[in-house]
Amino acid sequence: MCGIVGYIGKREIKSRLIEGLRELEYRGYDSAGIAVMQNGRIDSFKAVGKLSNLEEKTKSFSTDGLGAGIGHTRWATHGKPTELNAHPHMGEYSYVVHNGIIENYREIKQMLQEEGVAFLSQTDTEVIVHLFELEAQRRSDLFDAFKATIEQLDGAYAVLLVTQKAPDTIFFARKGSPMIIGRNDEGELFFASSDAPLIGEAKEVAYMEDGTIGYVTPDTIHAEPENLVFVPLSGDKATAQKGGYRFFMEKEIYEQYDVMSDTMMGRVLDSDIFFEEIGDSFLDGITRIKLCACGTSYHAALASGYLFERLSKIPVNVEIASEFRYKEPLLGSDTLFIVISQSGETADTLEALRMAKEAGLKTLAICNVDNSSIVRLADTTILTRAGIEKGVASTKAFATQVMVLWMLSLYFAKRRGSMDTEAIKEELRFMHYVPKVLQKSLEVHEKCKRLSKRYLHGHGFFFIGRDIFFPLALEGALKLKEISYLHAEGYPAGEMKHGPIALADAELFTIALMPKTLLYDKTKSNVEELSARDSTILSISPEMFDLADDFILTHPHNHPMLEFFEMMVVEQLLAMEIAIRLGNDVDMPRNLAKSVTVE
Ligand code: AGP
Repeated sequence: MCGIVGYIGKREIKSRLIEGLRELEYRGYDSAGIAVMQNGRIDSFKAVGKLSNLEEKTKSFSTDGLGAGIGHTRWATHGKPTELNAHPHMGEYSYVVHNGIIENYREIKQMLQEEGVAFLSQTDTEVIVHLFELEAQRRSDLFDAFKATIEQLDGAYAVLLVTQKAPDTIFFARKGSPMIIGRNDEGELFFASSDAPLIGEAKEVAYMEDGTIGYVTPDTIHAEPENLVFVPLSGDKATAQKGGYRFFMEKEIYEQYDVMSDTMMGRVLDSDIFFEEIGDSFLDGITRIKLCACGTSYHAALASGYLFERLSKIPVNVEIASEFRYKEPLLGSDTLFIVISQSGETADTLEALRMAKEAGLKTLAICNVDNSSIVRLADTTILTRAGIEKGVASTKAFATQVMVLWMLSLYFAKRRGSMDTEAIKEELRFMHYVPKVLQKSLEVHEKCKRLSKRYLHGHGFFFIGRDIFFPLALEGALKLKEISYLHAEGYPAGEMKHGPIALADAELFTIALMPKTLLYDKTKSNVEELSARDSTILSISPEMFDLADDFILTHPHNHPMLEFFEMMVVEQLLAMEIAIRLGNDVDMPRNLAKSVTVE
């Protein structure tokens, strides 16, 4: 997602900014830009796509001597990834970069337009720079004008602003989006939205608290309401990218709280669900859905099958892409063909999409990587906005896929009238609660770490669950086998008695997903059957279960999807801790690749 850098010093400014942005590339972005201020003049450059495009555009530009600059990589949320929508956004004489979302930007924009301000972009960010210039007309002190601007913003932001009226000065503010300031013995100052660009440049850094506002010049650092507290910065670039976590997978599990908010941003509203990606007539004539994917993405599809039928009352069929390709499928033009892929490059899914297109079906991709092959081929795409996922074992991408599919099932429900307005509102209320659930679910990490030592042997794991917790069981088993190399299967809890129960003994580990909000008693009976055959049971549930050998207590929730997301995190943490104890490379498990571009 978006990244911010800033610099004041005597070294060449453009290179400092672009190098800083390069350290943030791993977060994903679709355009980039910089504004460089020297001798009272500001030059700004923007480019869509990779940083190399920005480098190309700026190759004949350089600075010599003291100056200041700000830079940004943008992951589009409000408005398409175009050069006009890329940051920095400019006013008459000032430039701004921003991470986060300005929730009241429409009201501010309208007010500014009434004042005669013309807007160039579709972004929420542009209001900041125009508002600042309006406030600057009203008062002589520019910092007062900046404070008056920030006071009017609702939402989340990390903001850097430069203006020709204050040479060699950067104004900054932070609320809800991270911002760090660094300094070194050479008198240079740096800003960044995460540690990575500061490593090797800054000697010490201050992590700004929410509500911090201030400005820096070559010899002043002014922050309100409290002074910044600088601490030494250590570490190498690799650890910085992992943000202090042992593995990318761990970092990505912990990021789920943040990225889920990004996934919902501008789409999950208080009483409505909105996808700018789906045109008005796109779903006309659609009476059924076919979902097609591989691996973890297939599990997300399977979970959504329950949601689409239950909430949107639309028939759904879910297929594994590698099977679909050769089964000579019957495809009707009333079917919406949805492919799900983290990478957007999976060969089997891509081919399935091609077949659907050739058969004349409308196609929708749910994908994490913009401009990937699948995105380019599908009629339309909903990006999951999980940010780059480095761990081969998918975590945050899965979480965001499930979220988008849940959102989409509500979108269909509204369109088809299968749920009334109140019921939709109620569902949206639960959706808004998901990031909090993901954060709270991390509380069991320590418990997973301790429990993991008991699950390093045995002749196999069965993850069991019912309804949407069956695909989650499949996903738990896949996570475990991918990184621990232990044998694990996911199974519908009610199906165990039809065969697999024959395997039950003390060395068979049953991981039982026992949500309270969905078929609790039914699942419990199935687990009792396994316990009676002496299987070792680990129950994951908000309710204590007498017959479990071990349990991980989850928080009580009033909605199955909230239980789903909490249990998902537990499964991810447990798999990771078992794999770590076994000494495996969690991020790059043997025999696996992040992008499976072969059949
Ligand atoms: C997930 O942990 C796996 N690495 C794998 O199953 C993956 O989900 C599958 O290869 C599909 O990839 P995609 O989502 O990029 O299409």
